[in-house]
Amino acid sequence: MNKVCKHPFNSIQIQNTGEVYCCCCFWTNFYSFGNIFEQSFDEIWNGTRAKEFRKQFITQNYQYCKLDVCDPALIDFSAELEVPYPKRIEFSYDRHCNVRCVFCRNEKNKNEEEYNRQKEKRIEDNFDRIFTPIIQNAEFVELNSAGELFASKHSIEIVKKIIKINPNIKFGIISNGILFTKETTKNLELEERLTSAIISIHAASEKTYNKLVERGNFNAVIQNVKYLSDLKKQGNLKTLQLNFVVTSLNYKEMKKFVKFAKEMDAVAFFINYHRQIDNDELEKNLDITLKSHPKYNELVNILSDPIFSDEHCFVNDYLKTLKPVKLSIFQQIKNLFKK
Ligand SMILES: C[S@@+](CC[C@H](N)C(=O)[O-])C[C@H]1O[C@@H](n2cnc3c(N)ncnc32)[C@H](O)[C@@H]1O
Ligand code: SF4
Ligand code: SF4
Repeated sequence: MNKVCKHPFNSIQIQNTGEVYCCCCFWTNFYSFGNIFEQSFDEIWNGTRAKEFRKQFITQNYQYCKLDVCDPALIDFSAELEVPYPKRIEFSYDRHCNVRCVFCRNEKNKNEEEYNRQKEKRIEDNFDRIFTPIIQNAEFVELNSAGELFASKHSIEIVKKIIKINPNIKFGIISNGILFTKETTKNLELEERLTSAIISIHAASEKTYNKLVERGNFNAVIQNVKYLSDLKKQGNLKTLQLNFVVTSLNYKEMKKFVKFAKEMDAVAFFINYHRQIDNDELEKNLDITLKSHPKYNELVNILSDPIFSDEHCFVNDYLKTLKPVKLSIFQQIKNLFKK
């Protein structure tokens, strides 16, 4: 039996346009199985496009996938072209957010939330009709990797609707942690349904956090992580992951961040910063993984510390494979002046 990525056989990601993907739409180069506003889910899920996609996987052909960025869920199973309803649903389109992280939002996409509201309304209006059978058959829902769940009326409404349709469903939540309080978790009836929580913090001190997250609240995040850590210790929550996007503003706090994750019985998860605009000076300055960056070698040196092999730490492949560069005398002098 071959190892096959299970996503095309048991997962969907819904976009606010109605397009249905099996995982992150960027990872699959926007290979859509169909549109939920134009076809029934049965037609989409076991339709021509879905079967064509699955066929490639059965022959170990990953031509549609961006394997350099995606996170394949490889398992041994005998894959079929026609499959039962998906077990995992991901809602990942709502970009509404209560803060602005320097590496995530730039001025250009500031007004898009209002633009998306119409599409969200269409999802809400058709939710029961379209999603009831899918949610009834699912076991796990993930949201929201596009914006901030707890800052969005729309996403909160979606959570309530999901629980109403399928009270046995489990949740995986990714959040900036500011509004992920014990009170909100209980009020939304999420506490007993939460199996995975990913909190993005990116710093081990308030000073550094404030440089990265505009309008954030470091102390609130830490308090909420402590609450989630208690849930994990009680055995309800299976996964507690603390995200850290590595930039020139926070790299010095990476080791301290691992220690904090250990205290919380969580995993510190280090991701390289993906630049959105290639030639932007601000982005180049943030992107410490550029070989031309004056702090590049310092980062590589930090990453060689044994603490990053700890079981409470995960460093993504891109960061793991960074190698030191030999600098010319001219570059060394230039870097000295930049310090
Ligand atoms: C877009 S956020 C949405 C969920 C939630 N608001 C949060 O911050 O966790 C999902 C993840 O993407 C990460 N992220 C955002 N912009 C990024 C970038 N330019 N490069 C790498 N990761 C980024 C965030 O730090 C977060 O861990
Ligand atoms: S291999 Fe990657 S892109 Fe392809 S379905 Fe799996 S996770 Fe998605
Ligand atoms: S909190 Fe999440 S969605 Fe909001 S700006 Fe930061 S990374 Fe982006």
